[in-house]
Amino acid sequence: MPETNAAAPAAPQTIAPHGGTLINRFIPESARVAAIAEASKLPKILLDARQISDLELIAIGAVSPITGFMGKADYEGVVHKMHLANGLAWSIPVTLAITSEQAAQFPAGSKAALTDSTGAVLAILNVSETFTYDKAVEAQKVYGTTDPSHPGVAALNEQADVLIGGTVDVIALPAHDDFTEYYLTPAQTRAYFAEKGWKSIVGFQTRNPVHRAHEYLQKCALEMVDGLLLHPLVGATKGDDIPADVRMKCYRVLLDNYYPLDRTLLSVNPAAMRYAGPREAIFHALIRKNYGCTHFIVGRDHAGVGNYYGTYDAQKIFDEFAPGEIGIVTLNFEHTFWCNKCNGMASQKTCPHSPDNRIALSGTKVRDMLRAGEIPPIEFSRPEVAAVLIEAMKS
Ligand code: ADX
Repeated sequence: MPETNAAAPAAPQTIAPHGGTLINRFIPESARVAAIAEASKLPKILLDARQISDLELIAIGAVSPITGFMGKADYEGVVHKMHLANGLAWSIPVTLAITSEQAAQFPAGSKAALTDSTGAVLAILNVSETFTYDKAVEAQKVYGTTDPSHPGVAALNEQADVLIGGTVDVIALPAHDDFTEYYLTPAQTRAYFAEKGWKSIVGFQTRNPVHRAHEYLQKCALEMVDGLLLHPLVGATKGDDIPADVRMKCYRVLLDNYYPLDRTLLSVNPAAMRYAGPREAIFHALIRKNYGCTHFIVGRDHAGVGNYYGTYDAQKIFDEFAPGEIGIVTLNFEHTFWCNKCNGMASQKTCPHSPDNRIALSGTKVRDMLRAGEIPPIEFSRPEVAAVLIEAMKS
C-alpha cells in the first residue's frame, strides 16, 4: 500500500522549472512581422486540437525544458527509458505526426508553417529530422496496452506514420473563447504565488466534475501547504467526459461557497488528456512543477481509464526515479469516500467501519440521477455543483 503523507514533506522555497529554465517559445513582438512574412512562403502542416494543445504547452513553458516536437533521440529515450536524451526525467512523448508524403517536403534544416484549421499560421517549425516509429511499441510502453479501445491508444493509432521533430517559434496561438481569464501561463502563476508570498503550493489535476473526494484531498493538502493551484485540464478529453466549460462552472460555485479564496488559485491546464495513468501522472506532476507548484496530489487511479491500471500504479511509478529527479513532492491519497458512521470523508487508513457504511455511487449512477434532474446525496456532491451539472445535462 502506498504511504499517505502525514505532513507535507519539505520542498524548496521556490521551485525551479524542470531542467532549470522556464521556456518561452513566443517570437518577440519586434520579430513577428518578419516571421509572418517568412511563414507565408513555407509549406504548411495543419495541426489538430491535440497538437495545438501541445504547441501551447511548449510555447508557454508548461513542458519545460521541451522547446519543440521531439526528435528521435528524445522520443526513444522517453518511450523506452522515461528520460530525455539529456538525461532529464520525462514520461510522455510530445510529438507531431505527418504522412510520409508530407515528410518528403521536410528535409533536416527546412522549415514548416504550422497552421490551424482556419489557415492561420501559429508557428514556424525548425525541422531537425523526420523518422518512423512503432505505434504498438509506444502504446505498450506508454499506455501499458495495445488495446485499440483504450482512448490514448486509439488516438495514437489514428496518427500519421512519420514523426517530425524540431524547435518551434510561435507567432500566435488560437484565441481561447471561453474562461479566458483562467489561462495563466507558468510565468503568471509563479508571479501570483510570489505576490501572495506562498512558499509551498499544491497542484491539483482533474478532468472530472468536482466531487466531495476531490474537495477532501485538496483541503487535506491545504492543511499542510500555503496555497492550492486548482488546475483542471481543459484540452481534448474523450467524448463521454464532462466538457470543460461545465466543469469550470462547477469549480466556480464550489470555490465561491466553500473555499478560502485567499489561499486558492483556479487556473487551467491547456493539455489534452492522454489517459496514460501512471506515465501521465509523472507528466502532470512535471507540468505543475513548471507552473511553480512544490507539491502535487496523486489519488487513486490518477489519469486512468477503464481497468487498465492498478489503483495505486500512478503513485508507485514515482519510485522508479532517483530521489529529486522529478523534483516536485507528491502527496499520495488512498481511495476516499464518505462514511456514514464517521459522518465525514475518510479512507481505509482513517475509517474503522465496514464498507456497508460508505456512500458508493458509480459515475453512471450519478449521471443517470443528474439527467433525471435529481440532486445526488450531499455526501457525494455539493448541491451547488449538482445544480450546475443538472442544468448542463438539460442542454
Ligand atoms: S484524472 O484523470 O484527472 O486523474 P479525476 O479528475 O477524477 O481524474 O481525479 C483528479 C485527482 O483526484 C486524481 O489525482 C485522482 O487520483 C484523485 N481522485 C479522484 N477521486 C478520488 C477518490 N475517491 N479517492 C482518492 N483520490 C481520488
